[in-house]
Amino acid sequence: MTDSLVSHDAIDFDPFAAAFHDDPQRIYRRLRDSAPVYHNPRYGFWALSRHADVVPAMKDFETYSSGRGVTLEQVLAPEPPEQQIPMIIMMDPPEHTRMRKLVSAVFTPRAIAALEPMIREAIAGFVERLDPERFDVVADFSSLFPIEVITTMLGVPKEDRQQLREWLSIPLQRAEGQVGIDEDARRAVQSSTAYYTRLVAERRVRPREDMISRLLAVEVDRADGSITRLTEKEVLGFAALLAGAGAETVAKLLGTAAVIFADHPQQWRALRADRSLIPGAVEELLRYEGPVQYDVRYTRREVTLRGRTIPVHSPVLMLLASATRDPDAFPDADRFDITRPFTGNNLGLGYGIHRCLGAALARLESHIALDAMLDFMPEYELDRQGLRRARETSVAGWTEVPVRVTR
Ligand code: HEM
Repeated sequence: MTDSLVSHDAIDFDPFAAAFHDDPQRIYRRLRDSAPVYHNPRYGFWALSRHADVVPAMKDFETYSSGRGVTLEQVLAPEPPEQQIPMIIMMDPPEHTRMRKLVSAVFTPRAIAALEPMIREAIAGFVERLDPERFDVVADFSSLFPIEVITTMLGVPKEDRQQLREWLSIPLQRAEGQVGIDEDARRAVQSSTAYYTRLVAERRVRPREDMISRLLAVEVDRADGSITRLTEKEVLGFAALLAGAGAETVAKLLGTAAVIFADHPQQWRALRADRSLIPGAVEELLRYEGPVQYDVRYTRREVTLRGRTIPVHSPVLMLLASATRDPDAFPDADRFDITRPFTGNNLGLGYGIHRCLGAALARLESHIALDAMLDFMPEYELDRQGLRRARETSVAGWTEVPVRVTR
């Protein structure tokens, strides 16, 4: 099928606009229906929105590179090379394969299952501090514990963990239409980099049983055939990526859960009555309104798809959050249904070689947190006036979800 130029021009898909963040699905529907291979002349990106196109493209790392970054901002305005910290999410094979292997053992479902007591304790600690009647699901709960979990794994001392969360959250905030980060955000990034630099130096002298110490000890095969330890920047890259990828996403998923279940109270009650439905509910939340809206790739060759030609060196948005609502892939795709059979391929956690490394951790944290929420907010009302959407570059969700517990 060839799309008419008129339909493309008529769709103003601006990933930096508040109108997009307020209702991304409205845009996605139009893109899937009339511009599945969309080109945005203002920013110069392309976007794939149909499940049938996103899935093979996410697998095809030879055509679609991650090397320029995974958010549109990173691709449009790359950091100068000397300021870049190497992260696996921005690598292509063979480097990606070698580096991902170094940390994958820590994130297998079995290794993650062993962390369950630590995760339960972290969550319980924040639940204890909640006002039992009124609180903010994100600010007082879901944004607090995921950073605690991942920084515990990294080896950050308890007293510093929430400070790292604050530094992480500043560069994520955007004013309407803002592209890129401001001075405050730059300072916050510098503070957390300086913090991890000190921690890495300490662990180099006195290793402990934590991930930073382990990363300092492992050896990696280099492209030139040599075998070396990781550089300081590479260890910092892992710390920054794991904390960044592992904290915000889980926080957003659970905030979104509170908003969605307020609109589907029967399903909240069903979940409360039968906790074995929790894993299915988490998959459905990831499908229906997952935090990651898109991953960006960069074409390494010209691609022709549905009659349109994407030139080489083009940024392409893989609209995961549109693909998971594609009616051609999911019957009655706009219906939220925690009993929907799960196919095993949840695009909300990515797909292909970069699929979420922390998937098992994300699922376990979400299962335990949702279970806790069913107990501490068994019946609740949203304060809809107080709801605030996140305006982040590729992550959607809420920053404020005030609720009143009604029973
Ligand atoms: C609900 C929570 C989460 C969601 C929705 C999510 C989503 C994703 C997605 C879509 C990708 C693919 C990125 C791409 O293809 O460019 C990804 C990659 C990644 N995620 Fe997650 N994630 C979550 C939680 C976590 C957690 C808890 C961690 C652990 C620390 C984590 C660590 C990572 C890492 C390291 C990558 C990069 C993997 C690679 O490049 O090989 N994520 N995640």
